[in-house]
Amino acid sequence: MEKLKINGGRKLRGETRVQGAKNACLPILAAAALGESCIIHNCPDLTDTHAALKILESLGVCTEFENNTVRTHSCGSLSSCRIPDGLMKEMRSSVMFLGAILSKCKRAEITYPGGCSIGARPIDLHLEAFRKMGAEIEEEGDKIICTIDEIKSAKINLGFPSVGATENIMLLSAMSDAEIEIDNAAAEPEILDLQNFINSMGGNICSGGRKVFIKGVKELGNTEYKIMPDRIAALTYLSGIAACGGMGKLNSVRPEHMVLPLKILERGGSEIECGDDFIIMKAPSRPKSYGKIITLPYPGFPTDAQAIFMAAASRGRGKSSFKENIFENRFRHVSEIRKLGGRIETEGNEAEICGRRRLRGEVLTAKDLRGGAALVVAGLAAKGETIIENIGYIDRGYENIERSFGDFGAEIARVDESYGREIHS
Ligand code: EPZ
Repeated sequence: MEKLKINGGRKLRGETRVQGAKNACLPILAAAALGESCIIHNCPDLTDTHAALKILESLGVCTEFENNTVRTHSCGSLSSCRIPDGLMKEMRSSVMFLGAILSKCKRAEITYPGGCSIGARPIDLHLEAFRKMGAEIEEEGDKIICTIDEIKSAKINLGFPSVGATENIMLLSAMSDAEIEIDNAAAEPEILDLQNFINSMGGNICSGGRKVFIKGVKELGNTEYKIMPDRIAALTYLSGIAACGGMGKLNSVRPEHMVLPLKILERGGSEIECGDDFIIMKAPSRPKSYGKIITLPYPGFPTDAQAIFMAAASRGRGKSSFKENIFENRFRHVSEIRKLGGRIETEGNEAEICGRRRLRGEVLTAKDLRGGAALVVAGLAAKGETIIENIGYIDRGYENIERSFGDFGAEIARVDESYGREIHS
């Protein structure tokens, strides 16, 4: 497995274009199975994107990926209603395909996606909603078999505004005779992107104030669509500039998707200018305290940005604290940042960071996607050489993180897995 080699401790300066949103692309690819021919632009070139394309192919949908554009073509019906176990294991968010397969085939078979390093990640809210919509669900070991005759109208109140459950309900009901109201729905921008994609195929979905209304239609057709920019990738690059000091411009972004995190970066002393599709940030050599950051469903502070902001805070002046309310095991980057000299104390779902000017390079191991990105941010701020192992996690969500940070003048490169063994063994 390759590694990332960073020579950190220098200010960043430059500009980059931000990739399309992974968390919009995945449910939109699932929705493509409901239509016939889709052309989807601005798809990020990620291992998760290609895993989703493999799932579509296993269902009989022809796919093509070229220059960040995906073309799908399904000749009406799916050739299978089953997601191969290997693909379920490769990407737990394959559960997103459950609603689309059940809608098209009236039967769907998946294996339990299981938890991952950030938490147990159950799918009880998905299955409870499906039952309310008329689905029969059998669980045999780690297999889940869903069948449905007629998708029934329902008013579904989600116990938690789950992003995946909201998306799966939209995917199951978009092409049906049912009318669905989701209360306490997730309101992340990626949900609206999925809604707009489905409506561009002829769907009839509207949303607002944590409610989603789906009026099922007879069929969904063809479309050409462009995926929204990735707000978490954007915040990753801004966290790097905040951690190192300097100045940067992000192109192809939607500042309105990250109002609260931008306010927190300004609280840390950065000056931020926003246009319709760009952000310019000027950061002091070290951030001031960010105060208390509490992760919440959108429009609260995004859990996916918690680790990267903690990495920046590790080099801050003064103390910052975090409370992680969304996932139960999302501090796995803490022990790695401590190796660089970061002073972080955790208790339960709370962490307190006492920033320090000097972080020193080390060999680190990524343990999940956003925690891995946080190690890149911290490594860029640490003096000397940092090597990051297990970077496959990072490649799941970032097209080419070393190229993006390289656009800001960072000394970061992908190296062979044997690199560094002699130095750090
Ligand atoms: C989506 O995951 C994102 N993934 C996650 O991004 C993101 O962190 C998360 O939403 C929250 O914003 C994709 O969109 C592919 P949830 P999802 O259902 O849908 C609990 C990244 O780094 N829950 O909103 O799985 C669950 O355990 C990834 O890009 C249930 O209890 O998130 C968690 O604690 C990581 N039962 C909380 O809700 C359920 O049936 C939020 O989960 C479903 C969820």
